[in-house]
Amino acid sequence: MALIEFRGVRKAFGPKVVYRHLDLDVQEGEALTIIGGSGQGKSVMLKLLIGLLRVDAGSITYDGEVVSELPEEEYGRIRREVAMLFQGAALFDSLSVRDNITYGLREHHQLPEEEMAARVAEALEYVGLPGTEEMWPADLSVGMQKRVGLARAIAMKPRVLLYDEPTTGLDPINVARISELIIHLQQSLDVTSIVVTHDMHSAFLVSDRMAMIQSGRVVFSGTPEEFRQTSEPIVRDFIDGNAPEEEDTETLLRSVG
Ligand SMILES: Nc1ncnc2c1ncn2[C@@H]1O[C@H](COP(=O)(O)OP(=O)(O)OP(=O)(O)O)[C@@H](O)[C@H]1O
Ligand SMILES: [Mg+2]
Repeated sequence: MALIEFRGVRKAFGPKVVYRHLDLDVQEGEALTIIGGSGQGKSVMLKLLIGLLRVDAGSITYDGEVVSELPEEEYGRIRREVAMLFQGAALFDSLSVRDNITYGLREHHQLPEEEMAARVAEALEYVGLPGTEEMWPADLSVGMQKRVGLARAIAMKPRVLLYDEPTTGLDPINVARISELIIHLQQSLDVTSIVVTHDMHSAFLVSDRMAMIQSGRVVFSGTPEEFRQTSEPIVRDFIDGNAPEEEDTETLLRSVG
């Protein structure tokens, strides 16, 4: 049984049907990347999983439990285990780096202050920003803000990490850096990751498996290699429109070290 299962999920907003029939499995421990064009429903998929949006029909199962029918007050325990890095990092400008990270922790966990401080320090260490607790979001570059957003997610010690466009708006070096970080966290924290992106650099780098969504369903899924090799027109059009030259990726990775 997969850790997360979408079964026959339908989701519409008025006349706009986002998902007609979504079937998708996410295996425990894998890094799955969801690709697809703008407006195809990638963010909606993540929000459905953590109950910020509700399915119209079908079901979502997490760890053997059908969660799509849970009342709002029971979603807290799911959101404790499934942490999301929102599209655009979304830090609070009026809170320090420390308070941005503890904000989510206070909401979900009752922890002694020392434990809280230790978690913040450890999370910042993981994302390569040790000792930045007293800084303000406005003092950080966009790439650093993304990493603080990521620190906020991992301070929860989640079992599943959801990344919504973690590299959008970053320059190529930072794209490579964040991608490396996703791989590093995947290996060192033993998490399951779902990464939403339309950046093929990042998708090919971080994924164990990829799934492409279009017109309300999964149109292709497989390993990065299978994506590279397929002659499926719908996939080729997307990849060729979004992929870098192979050597670009290698050059970038070398430059990051
Ligand atoms: N709360 C909402 N109310 C109404 N429509 C919505 C809502 N959320 C999403 N939509 C619509 O659902 C569709 C899918 O949105 P979604 O944000 O999932 O796209 P996406 O694949 O994440 O796109 P992008 O790559 O631009 O982030 C879009 O047409 C969007 O306008
Ligand atoms: Mg989105």
